Amino acid sequence: MGATQETLYAGVEYDAGLSWSERDLPQRLRTKHVHSLHPYLGKYVPQLVEELLRRYVPRGGRVLDPFAGSGTTLVQSLESGHDSVGVDIAAFNCLLMRVKTREHNPFVLERELRDALARFEAGEGSAGRTTAYVRRWLAPQSRAELLRFRSLIGDYESADALRVVLARAARSARLTTHFDLDFPKEPQTEPYWCHKHKRECRPVEHAGHFLRRYVMDTLVRLKEFAHLRGRRNAEVIHGDARDASLPGKFAAVITSPPYPGLIDYHEQHRYAYELLGLDDRRDLELGAAVRGTTRGAIRDYVEGVGDVLAAASASLERGGRVVIVVNDSRSLYPEILERSGLELDERFRRHVNRRTGRRAGEYFEEILVARRR
Ligand SMILES: C[S@@+](CC[C@H](N)C(=O)[O-])C[C@H]1O[C@@H](n2cnc3c(N)ncnc32)[C@H](O)[C@@H]1O
Repeated sequence: MGATQETLYAGVEYDAGLSWSERDLPQRLRTKHVHSLHPYLGKYVPQLVEELLRRYVPRGGRVLDPFAGSGTTLVQSLESGHDSVGVDIAAFNCLLMRVKTREHNPFVLERELRDALARFEAGEGSAGRTTAYVRRWLAPQSRAELLRFRSLIGDYESADALRVVLARAARSARLTTHFDLDFPKEPQTEPYWCHKHKRECRPVEHAGHFLRRYVMDTLVRLKEFAHLRGRRNAEVIHGDARDASLPGKFAAVITSPPYPGLIDYHEQHRYAYELLGLDDRRDLELGAAVRGTTRGAIRDYVEGVGDVLAAASASLERGGRVVIVVNDSRSLYPEILERSGLELDERFRRHVNRRTGRRAGEYFEEILVARRR
């Protein structure tokens, strides 16, 4: 383990400079400004990235995240004064990252988002194309409202921000129970006993109030971040990080790869793919839950992540570090690093204190700092 501020918790040493209690770092700060523009399962906390940037990236150095997800690395890089590039195989994640990191004109953004909402309230728009998933997971009125809003989006320069609002409203309006928004299996069409609210709840029948709320919330969050983002650039590449063409050289890689068999990154935002007609490349997703954790699946994962890290490290400047945040409960990373031509330099343990969500609880994750052999 590395030598920085080590502390003991339940007999396990961890780096206190990379670990925060709920009191030190409440949810409000972990989900500040654009970080909670849309729910995303499997992101790391922005404050961790901030600290890793401070430790491993020289002033003004470019940063690469080959598994960029919801864009935490890119957003924090902007805030800390670094150019960055993020790659992700999931189109919705790329859309979300672009909206978070783009330099929006605040006047245009405000005028357009308010105008789209006003037209929606006035009853403008029409239904258009729909899919079996949309018919199954959204009540008739929610569906009609979301489709009507969707038909207005193309009229605006801020269309991508409106697409994220639409996706977020659709997620909230799905026929799910309140206690299972992350992994719903079947639509909930009848009233049900709600474990979260301890009373009988009813499935959502309308989406208009979500659209209203999220248009305003998106506006506030994007405007807040506009004051912090500085003038650096964040480039988003939609592709497979094993063979994406990476522009230029990087001072560091900071990333958290998917864990094998845990999350389906396309499927968690299925409603967005269905409503927005996004390009679905789930077959190229590494470590997808749907593939399970058979020996073959683990082998593919090791080879895939190894190839990504090899490609990423080939684009590093001399002396640049590859910083990987991982919960390596299967001890796969020694082999992955070996395969990708990296050697471990430092290794820190971080205490993760999670208070919300179905996977609440405490655990440790590791920060592996490697360099090219
Ligand atoms: C653990 S998440 C990263 C989360 C990110 N650190 C954040 O804070 O939002 C892993 C990401 O890797 C992406 N991914 C999986 N296979 C990929 C591949 N072959 N190429 C690029 N990205 C991939 C997934 O879509 C997912 O968004």
